[in-house]
Amino acid sequence: MQFKGSQTIDATRAAVWAGLNNPVVLQQCIAGCEQFEETGDGRWQAVVLVSVGPVKARFKGRVTLHERQPLLGYRLCGEGEGGIAGFGQMEARVTLQDDGTHTRLDYAVEASVGGKLAQIGSRLVSGVAQKMADHFFARFNQLLSQPVSVALSRLDSAAGAVWTEEAKGNDSLCDVSLTVNGQVVQRYVDPRMLLVELLRQELRLTGTHVGCDTSQCGACTVRLDGAAVKSCSILAAQASGGEVVTIEGLAPAGSLHALQKAFNHCHALQCGFCTPGMIMAADDLLRSGRPVTDASIHQAIEGNLCRCTGYVNIIEAVHQAARATDHAEARS
Ligand code: FES
Ligand code: FES
Repeated sequence: MQFKGSQTIDATRAAVWAGLNNPVVLQQCIAGCEQFEETGDGRWQAVVLVSVGPVKARFKGRVTLHERQPLLGYRLCGEGEGGIAGFGQMEARVTLQDDGTHTRLDYAVEASVGGKLAQIGSRLVSGVAQKMADHFFARFNQLLSQPVSVALSRLDSAAGAVWTEEAKGNDSLCDVSLTVNGQVVQRYVDPRMLLVELLRQELRLTGTHVGCDTSQCGACTVRLDGAAVKSCSILAAQASGGEVVTIEGLAPAGSLHALQKAFNHCHALQCGFCTPGMIMAADDLLRSGRPVTDASIHQAIEGNLCRCTGYVNIIEAVHQAARATDHAEARS
């Protein structure tokens, strides 16, 4: 089955391109998308709930981007398994053109289905596929058209963010350069991109986790200019000019930091999701020179949530790391 379409989006080509490569935006645009996780460069794993006539199934599959030509377009391939409902495959070509203020996005989709879905009839299936494509681009247009005044007002006070007049006027890309784990990096990013998104999506430093995206869980904690910060609460542009250390840069390659050794030794983790943030928060305490006591550890990790171990072993691990690095104090 084949279908194609065209959308005019109220944003510049640079902003549309950034959106088309942003998994957070993509997830919000796919109808029924329950999960959208990055698995490597230009590859994602998705879970999407789809209803076709009487068949309602959860499709789990892969999405891969090919032939990426910045600002011009890409080829997107997807394949999904829906259990007894069958399976589906699709390939979409997306191309961008602009007239200075609006962007025209053309897409051509080729899709095939098998199993129960194939028995339902291609007319019903292609109707659903067309509806999903319409939903995707309507939502995409809506997201890209949102005013960026909030982001801009935060950026105006951000030291080091490089803005051009054109970028301010046109919701364009923002030039961000910073040092991450000792390496200078520079990227043109959407002004709304969070520091954690820059680290995970652009730099592939996926040790920094996202648990809540609302500054509550601490899974995204990194060191910025010497202080522990929640990287989901800072725009990438606000960190421009700064020095960031993530869990990957805490110890030289091939070795472990005293905190990493102690967390391992004390069994201070179960699933490990909270661990990078927990360690970066504890590292902030050790580096501060403050006495390491139960009370100061509680204070250091009060913004970090662990949903599976409880905190006893985590606190013991921080004490052990402190002893190993001569920060030990009598316990309170
Ligand atoms: S993801 Fe940043 S605090 Fe939860
Ligand atoms: S070890 Fe699983 S959330 Fe902390």
